[in-house]
Amino acid sequence: MSNRFPENFLFGSASAAYQVEGAYQEDGKGLSIWDEWVKLPGKTFQGTNGDVATDHYHRVEEDIALMKEMGLKAYRFSISWTRILPEGRGRIERKGLEFYHKLIDGLLENGIEPVVTIYHWDLPLALQKEYGGWEDRKIVEDFTAFAKILFDEFHKKVKYWIVLNEPNIFTQLGYFMALHPPGIKDMGMYLKTYHHTALVHAYVVKLFKEKGYEGKIGSSIAYTPGYAKTEDEKDVEAQRRYYETVNHYIMDIYFKGKYPSWGYAYFNERGLAPKILPEDEKVLVESAKMTDFIGINYYQSATLAYNGEDGIGVSDFNVSGEKGNFRESGIPGLYRQVYNEKLKYTDWDWAIDPDGLRYALVEISERFGKPILISENGMGAFDEVSEGKVQDGYRIDYIREHIKACYDAIGEGVDLMGYCTWSFTDLLSWLNGYQKRYGFVFVDFEKEDLPRIRKDSFYFYQDVIKTNGENC
Ligand code: NOJ
Repeated sequence: MSNRFPENFLFGSASAAYQVEGAYQEDGKGLSIWDEWVKLPGKTFQGTNGDVATDHYHRVEEDIALMKEMGLKAYRFSISWTRILPEGRGRIERKGLEFYHKLIDGLLENGIEPVVTIYHWDLPLALQKEYGGWEDRKIVEDFTAFAKILFDEFHKKVKYWIVLNEPNIFTQLGYFMALHPPGIKDMGMYLKTYHHTALVHAYVVKLFKEKGYEGKIGSSIAYTPGYAKTEDEKDVEAQRRYYETVNHYIMDIYFKGKYPSWGYAYFNERGLAPKILPEDEKVLVESAKMTDFIGINYYQSATLAYNGEDGIGVSDFNVSGEKGNFRESGIPGLYRQVYNEKLKYTDWDWAIDPDGLRYALVEISERFGKPILISENGMGAFDEVSEGKVQDGYRIDYIREHIKACYDAIGEGVDLMGYCTWSFTDLLSWLNGYQKRYGFVFVDFEKEDLPRIRKDSFYFYQDVIKTNGENC
């Protein structure tokens, strides 16, 4: 490819506090729901946890030096709520704020734009215990107070804010699949917590705009475009149902302020839909208009087939990556997610589909008319070090093709602000422990001093950034 991206295009990379920081009890930090969950027997791969993770908390200078060497234009990271407010509300821990000042200042001094995620899944344990966290509307007040502390503290330094990371995923895994904390399996509760996340997004955007902070604000959604398996009208119907209850269901409530009518009615008829108060509607619609950009985490596409009227929606995929292990997709009688013979799959069975990214960007741009930031895209794999090198050509191919898809989408009129890979260094992959690697920088978790090794993909992305996409 010999095409350059717009000059201000943010070629970046991303991470999240719990997945990299470690130091889980240092400098006054309170416990989050993840600090507790990982210690329960059988919850994570071989009982791995983020107590130390990549030790980014203590190695922030070293990690920033690697980012600088690579030439990153942006670094997306999240702020640990309980470093700032150990009990979730009330007493502020200055040392927590100072850590993020150090990180942000380090980035800015090296010409790297900080992109801050306010919430990446590590809810204060105190709020979970007190009122069930996302289960109660009280979360709106506590979250907004936390966000205000961050805006007041960092607004002069941070231009890009992401309120929530993948609200559609953490509610599903926490309240329907029972795989993430708090480990509940209740469809109605899942959709209720989902609604509360939309309210949190809306009230935080409202606060940000009303107080007149400078900068741009959005939220990041896990977006998986869906194809019908065949042209048969039943498969096409399965695809439509998928959009109504999955893709449009999340995107419309965040970026239009309303649930899609068929999808909402489907849940409502089964007594599963959340209660929408008159004041909810107002703030959701107003804030959707004020939201500056849509963050998209894109990894794969889905292929949908008809599933009969009475069956339970199933998927041929297992989130923990075991092949051929069927699981419920959660929604009765809707569709079945199947393998796509035209696509290749990663070690974790995720469909590799760069054209799906172009397709997703174009459909989102047409439906919502807002700028888009790709806040995550990457390939999880079992990497290996051999003679001091990590030859991850498969990752280079993956990223190259997805960057080309971005370029094509821009050509089709998409207002794309940037592209952040997941992730910069290897990190804790939640349930998958440290075996599923995404980084440009290999972290040797077997060694106590956690050495960092530049993978081949490090040099590839360095060159892409240097040439603004020309050498891709
Ligand atoms: C989505 C999440 O935001 C991130 O935390 C996770 O590790 C990656 N995708 C890979 O699954």
